[in-house]
Amino acid sequence: MPKEHRLVLKHADEAGYTNDIKCYLKYGGYKTLKKVFRLKPKKAGGVVVTPQETIRSEVLASGLRGRGGAGFSCGLKWNFVNRKSGKPIYLICNADESEPGTFKDRQIIHKDPHQLIEGMILSCYANDVKLAYIYIRGEFPEGARILNRAIDEAKGKGFLGRGICGTRYDLEIHVHRGAGAYICGEETGLIESLEGKRPYPRIKPPYFPAALGLYMCPTIVNNVETLCNVRNVMEIGADAYAALGTAGNTGTRIVSLSGNVKRPGYYEIEVGKATLGELIFHKNFGQGLRDGRKLRAIIPGGSSSKVFRAGEKFDIKSKDKWGEVVEQKLDLLDIPYDFDTLMKCGSMSGSSAIIVLDDSVDIVESLGNLSDFYAHESCGQCTPCREGSLWMAKALKRMRSGQARKGDADYLEHIAHNIQGRTICAFGEACAWPVLSFVDKFRDDFEKRGAEDEARLAKRDGEATTK
Ligand SMILES: Cc1cc2nc3c(=O)[nH]c(=O)nc-3n(C[C@H](O)[C@H](O)[C@H](O)COP(=O)(O)O)c2cc1C
Ligand code: SF4
Repeated sequence: MPKEHRLVLKHADEAGYTNDIKCYLKYGGYKTLKKVFRLKPKKAGGVVVTPQETIRSEVLASGLRGRGGAGFSCGLKWNFVNRKSGKPIYLICNADESEPGTFKDRQIIHKDPHQLIEGMILSCYANDVKLAYIYIRGEFPEGARILNRAIDEAKGKGFLGRGICGTRYDLEIHVHRGAGAYICGEETGLIESLEGKRPYPRIKPPYFPAALGLYMCPTIVNNVETLCNVRNVMEIGADAYAALGTAGNTGTRIVSLSGNVKRPGYYEIEVGKATLGELIFHKNFGQGLRDGRKLRAIIPGGSSSKVFRAGEKFDIKSKDKWGEVVEQKLDLLDIPYDFDTLMKCGSMSGSSAIIVLDDSVDIVESLGNLSDFYAHESCGQCTPCREGSLWMAKALKRMRSGQARKGDADYLEHIAHNIQGRTICAFGEACAWPVLSFVDKFRDDFEKRGAEDEARLAKRDGEATTK
């Protein structure tokens, strides 16, 4: 039976569990940190391996993938950090949580902030970071207050500041509140904003944060949930962590489930151990649609992921345990909720936010709503994104006001094709993909609306001429 597996949210909703350090310590908090600080350099194959290298190789071996959107290996990202530049290395926790449909990081921040702080200290220690930031979105004032209090408490107990836990390691963490812009979640836009500038994303290359990040120094940007999982990897060990989930998709993941389900909420699962259908319909998760309703569509990984139409089927290829390529037929509801399968099916798990649309939903209206958001949030730096996102939103506004045209589906596709792949940051794809996939999967809805509106308007004009 599919069920939750709580690792990051292990205690979060337990009766009596509070978000202060006293409670965290009572439940064994900061023990992992103390254990890691006791690690000594060791010799392996004639080479001395430092404790920092040990942590980095554990995180790499755990298979932990970033929980912020792209699902990139955390250990690999850390390996890309330029450690020879002679400049300080920074770590930034991305707590912007700006992808529509996503509400997992705020649960951690509100309910278990010390888990994040401990994960950050371990990650900073592993990467020789002395100064770290938590970039939290402006609309989370309570989250910022909780984090600031947690940092003060951790300092009071000697887990932050100078000479942590009696070692020679110093670390400061500052909370920085954004002003509320989606693009501040994109790592280079975030860095610009943290530097006090307008959050214009930077071009990669050359501005990969691992080489040229905050103040042009090597910088690690990781999501809240990723950093908590670093703590969990170091607590249970890489092998035990990798045993959770499925091959290549290890550990657990917090899924935000919203839209037309009976029980929306956040659910932590072993990655790939529950299917889309189970997450929506099973009694342990969404408990199905409202009575009498049918499934129409699923947005599987936050608003920028490509939509699926109910009833879709997929032919995918994967490798079995002996490395042989096997072909598999999958129904939409049987897709295991992991990083790789969703990608093979043409979408992504993104920020792990599932939005369910039932048959009461007007598809053109939904896309219009999403497109308004993207037109509003484009930073305006690149012409295709700035103009294109606005054109798409304007066309959809016209369609929503009873003036759709037969060629609208092609028109929207044409604009979206001219945005994707032609912009500085991935926002270009984020605003093009919903349009491309909605039009592709629901072309009949767009064409029907165009035909009906044109016929109605022609009739009205004809009547006006006869009069
Ligand atoms: C437009 C846009 C918005 C993003 N918003 C967020 C966000 O709110 N939170 C987040 O963690 N990552 C967000 N990301 C991904 C970050 O750029 C970055 O990849 C991530 O924070 C890295 O952390 P991870 O490796 O731990 O996933 C966004 C990316 C793009 C392109
Ligand atoms: S793609 Fe859009 S959001 Fe990203 S830099 Fe260009 S204009 Fe700004």
